[in-house]
This record gives sequence, structure tokens and C-alpha cells, in this order.
Amino acid sequence: MNENIIIINCGSQFTQLIARRLREMKIHSVILNWDASCETVASYAPKGIIISGGPKGVNDPDAIMIDKKIFELGCPVLGICYGMQLITKIFGGAVNSGTDSEYGVTLIKKSPGKNSSLLTKKIPEQFHALMSHGDNVQKLPEGFEITSTSDGGVIASIENRARKIFGLQFHPEVANTEKGDEILKSFAFEICSCSGDWDMTNWVENSIAEIKKQVGDKKVVCGLSGGVDSSVSATLVHKAIGENLQCVFVNHGLMRLNEPEEVMKQYKEIGLNVIYVDASEKFLGELAGVTDPEQKRKIIGRLFIEVFEAEAKKIQGAEFLLQGTIYPDVIESGMKGKNGAALIKSHHNVGGLPEKMNLKLLEPLRDLFKDEVRVLGKIIGMPEEIISRQPFPGPGLAVRCLGEITKQRLDVLREADFIFREELKSAGLYKNIWQAFCVLLPVKSVGVMGDSRTYNEAVVLRAIHSQDAMTAEWSRIDFDVLDKISKRICNEVKGINRVVLDVTSKPPATIEWE
Ligand code: XMP
Repeated sequence: MNENIIIINCGSQFTQLIARRLREMKIHSVILNWDASCETVASYAPKGIIISGGPKGVNDPDAIMIDKKIFELGCPVLGICYGMQLITKIFGGAVNSGTDSEYGVTLIKKSPGKNSSLLTKKIPEQFHALMSHGDNVQKLPEGFEITSTSDGGVIASIENRARKIFGLQFHPEVANTEKGDEILKSFAFEICSCSGDWDMTNWVENSIAEIKKQVGDKKVVCGLSGGVDSSVSATLVHKAIGENLQCVFVNHGLMRLNEPEEVMKQYKEIGLNVIYVDASEKFLGELAGVTDPEQKRKIIGRLFIEVFEAEAKKIQGAEFLLQGTIYPDVIESGMKGKNGAALIKSHHNVGGLPEKMNLKLLEPLRDLFKDEVRVLGKIIGMPEEIISRQPFPGPGLAVRCLGEITKQRLDVLREADFIFREELKSAGLYKNIWQAFCVLLPVKSVGVMGDSRTYNEAVVLRAIHSQDAMTAEWSRIDFDVLDKISKRICNEVKGINRVVLDVTSKPPATIEWE
């Protein structure tokens, strides 16, 4: 087993970032929900525990409470923001609610001399850190001392040196905290004595051995989408069990220009065993006349399961279903409902399939972040075109073809989208953009072409930068490049007479339009 640091998630929007920072230090971490029992935490033999921040206050009637027995495990504990306030409350101190709130980057001053903390040993006497709290520690519990304060006089960090329990009111995991990674490094390496043994190459060998052991000589079925996650997981499992992996690629008629052919060719080159199913008529038939985004998503999700199930049933002796679930999916689905997360969109996945088909689930990537999946793809020798592919939503162009979905409108969208991406590539911009695509609007406007009046639909150019798709910034593309794209689309795509640029970030918009 790798060395683990357990992160107990109390609902902070930054929890994943804590895990990221640790991974960057080659330390494996596991995020558990706040209600995880001490026994569950102990089963990972943690080198240390981090309690995250959270949206609630410790004095709220419905405050989140963790299993206090974790403090008896004997490993160091670090509480961040809500985590520090929780430690204060559990050990008999007091927390003020709603006074001396601090939001934003704040100056922190370390306590002098021997009162200074091991955590901040390597950073200057004063530093800037992100504070984001409504409550703060008012009275220290016994055995704890203050190790730094903010410019506004708020207790910024505390610790109980004898018991190795630490608290930070600020967030070391975010980029705007100066040397925040040094603080986490001190916790992980010096206080928890981690050695940094997390390594992708070892991971690949272990994972292949584990898959072999788990699957034995049984068969595995897998739905391929052309996306990075499903392709990498299939290639990894193929390395472990070879021909006993049978993949199914469902063409729902909502792919981009030439995409089904290109993707199938790439899979063939890798050596995957893939059944190609053209279900586009079925999908487009059931989507006819539907304009509501959620209804579109639900129809596509249901049909995908139906088509996939029918194909998979033909595969004799299949016992496992392979899914390309990655770490953020695991966390997101674990959190749903528990912390009142709102449903923004029904994401397309094949949840429900394993139970329905009586298959065991195989999810070899469920520990990895997206960029780690890409590194893994490289290690196992996958082509660059697949590894660096931009994310493409499961429901495909359906969520980019606003209003009614028809073959004719999809073809218009496909052509415009192809030109947009082609021009970004030839300007050398595509690689550095996280996602770039066109959206077709069901809005007609008047134009003039040659000497004639036109009355056609409009296309939107959407390009964004992101790290994890949770937030996104619209990409500033050079005006000359935009001009060329606009001219080409209006000249070459019949049915479009207006091109507009989406200059909205996420939030308030989402990346896709539906
Ligand atoms: P939104 O539009 O929610 O998209 O900001 C965030 C990221 O997720 C992709 N996306 C999906 N991916 N199934 C997927 O596998 C889906 O149903 C789906 N909907 C959106 C989107 O392209 C972006 O990268």
C-alpha cells in the first residue's frame, strides 16, 4: 500500500485542491466524507489526516461533526479553516460566530521565537494567505498555542505540539497563499514523515497486476466514447487481459465531423477489440422535436444504456463492466446530496448499467486526476491524438445544437465547428485551449450576401481555459484569427450568416450551453 494522507471533506470547494497539492509532492491521498468512521480512516493506515474547510459554522445547529476517535489514532492532524474551528470545539475551546470575518488575501504574522510553528518554519516571518471565514477561534483549548495571527488580529494558526494537532485558519492549498505548498510539505514530510512514494510508473505496474488478479480469465465489456478516460482505461485493461476485453463504440449521431471514423481507426491501431454500432437514426428519431436541455440529456442517457445493453448481452460470459471513472467523478458523486450540492445538469454516464446487467464494476482510474490519466496514457504508449483530446460531452453535439435537433442542423454545426478548430490549430492556439467548439443557435437574423438578403441562424464560438472544468475563463483569441474564422464560416457553411463570440466565464455560465 502507498503511504496515504487522509483528507476528511467537510464540504469545502477547495478539498480537491488539497489532494492535488499532495499529489504534486508524490503523496497519495484519499478523500473521505466527513461522516467516515474512525475505522474507515484507520483502514488506510494514514501517515496523517487533514480536515478540510466547509460552508457551515461549528456553532450552527446542523454543524458537521467528524468521528472524534480519529484523534486517538496517533497520526498528526491538520485542520484547515472549518477543520481548525472543529479541532478547537472538540478540545474545549471556543469559536466566535459572525465576527471579524476575513475574505481575501490577508497578511499573516508568525508568532515570535519558539512559539513559531514547525509548519511555517520555512517561510518568512510575514506572508500573505487566503482567508475565507465568517467564524474564528476565540479561546484556545488546553494544550494548544497560537503560532500566527492575521493583520486584523484573528488567530491564524494554532497547534498542540505534544499531540501533533495543527490548525490553520487560512488556506495553504490555494495558489494565492504565498508558499502554501511549503506549509503542506512541512506537514507531510517533516511532521507526518511521508517519503513521497507515489509514482505513476509503479502505479501502472501495480494496477495491471491488480486487474489481472481481479478479473482472472473472465470477460470485461466496455463502452468507448473516444474520450481520454474511457480510452486510457480500455488500453490499460487491454494490457492486463488482452482479448478478454470487448469494447463497444456507440455512434449516437451526435459526434463531430469525421469523428467516429477517426476514433475507430485509432482504437484499431492500439489493438483494441471494438464493436461499432451505428445507432444514429434511433437517437435522432427519439430526439426529434425535443428542445428542453434536460429532456435531451435524459433521452440520450436512456438510449445509450439500451443500445449498449443490447450489444453487451451478445458478448458471451461477460462478468465485468469497465468504466473510465476518475477521481473528481468519485468525489462529486460521493458529495451529491450529502452537502446539498445542486443539480446543474444531468451528466451523461452509464450509471445504473452494472446493476441492470448484473455486472461487476471495474474502475481502474478512480484514483487519478485528469492530468494523471494523460500521463498514464503516455506511459502505456497511447497516441498523442487520444491523450491530448479536448473533453467532449457524453451527449455530444445535442447540447451544442440549441433548439430542435435535426440532421441538417447538426451538419451545419459540424462544418462550422470543424472550421473553428481547424483555424485555431493552424494559428497554433488549439493545444493551449482547454476546450473550443461551436454552438448553433435557433435564432435567425438578417444578413446580406452578394446582393441578396439572407435570414439564417447564428453560430457561437466558445473557447475556454480551465484546470478542472469546475471553473473556466473565456479564452482571449486574437482578433485577426477570429476574423478569419468568422469569414470562413459565413462563406463556407450554408445556413449561417452571423458568428458571435461567447465572452462568459464559468460561473456564471457553464462551459456547454445546455
Ligand atoms: P459544464 O457545461 O457543466 O461542463 O460547465 C463541464 C465539463 O463537462 C463536460 N460535460 C460533460 N461531460 N458528460 C460528460 O462526460 C456530460 O453529460 C457532460 N456535460 C458537460 C463539458 O464539455 C465540460 O468539459
